[in-house]
Amino acid sequence: MPLNRPSDITEGLSQRPARISPKYFYDQRGSQLFEAITRLPEYYPTRTETALMQRHAADMARHLGAVRTVIELGAGSCEKARALCAWVRPACFVGVDISVDFLQEAVLRLRADMPGLDARAVGGDMTQGVVLPSDIPRAGRLVFYPGSSIGNFDPTQALELLRHMRALVDGDGGLLIGIDLPKDVAVLEAAYDDAAGVTAAFNRNVLTHLNRLIGSDFVEDQWGHRAFFNQQASRIEMHLEALAPICVRWPGGERRFAMGERIHTENSYKYPLAVFTDMLAQAGFSHAQAWTDERGWFAVVHARP
Ligand code: AVJ
Repeated sequence: MPLNRPSDITEGLSQRPARISPKYFYDQRGSQLFEAITRLPEYYPTRTETALMQRHAADMARHLGAVRTVIELGAGSCEKARALCAWVRPACFVGVDISVDFLQEAVLRLRADMPGLDARAVGGDMTQGVVLPSDIPRAGRLVFYPGSSIGNFDPTQALELLRHMRALVDGDGGLLIGIDLPKDVAVLEAAYDDAAGVTAAFNRNVLTHLNRLIGSDFVEDQWGHRAFFNQQASRIEMHLEALAPICVRWPGGERRFAMGERIHTENSYKYPLAVFTDMLAQAGFSHAQAWTDERGWFAVVHARP
């Protein structure tokens, strides 16, 4: 199954309201912009999760037990896996990401720095089912899904993904997953609409990526960045808003946007911990141990079958 199917994209653009899947954020430039987001003062999730993992490393290692293979989904720069592998000491690391070139470079650096580690890069779209190399043993697997990326999927899809993760491991395996928790709306909204405009650039960059994928003629400057918390659905929503009447064309189609009309580009769900552990149980992970920061902003959960 190809990673990007142009028909998915044009279908989404034709819907009302129009939609673009957040997976299309991550071309080379998008992955770099995301790295820049993780260093923004307003974007608390990455540094909160990193601090949590550092502070509780010994306790987490004790809970994880012996791990033979770490499988990181959406591995990106592999920075989190690097830290995890340093204290879990697995024989093998498999990074999976839709942005394969970016991942490949990161895995090469990991290999150079950790000579004993059998590190692999696998290009894949998790929503299509991850296929691992056949020589990766099933015993002692730990699926690692940090960063609260599970929040990008709506609850039904998220449950399906958790079930897929459950299927990747045997009874002796586990899942280590980061989740962003509900909190003050001002804190949430600032994290997705930073003063330096990096998140706005990240949001608009999806249009340039689409131009390459489907031959469309989006102009980034014609679109405004909108990010807000939808209290009802407990999610941050990101949209691109037409700053003028716009007609976007691509080979075989077009879509007209009135001024002020939006394209929905991302949801980022914020689950209360109890709601999330319930989803884990429904996916076949009945044992969960969670670590949270003192503000209760983020949780890292170790789940076992
Ligand atoms: C990669 C899904 C964790 O939702 O916070 C950051 C992506 N979007 N700023 C998130 C993102 C806008 C991020 N995740």
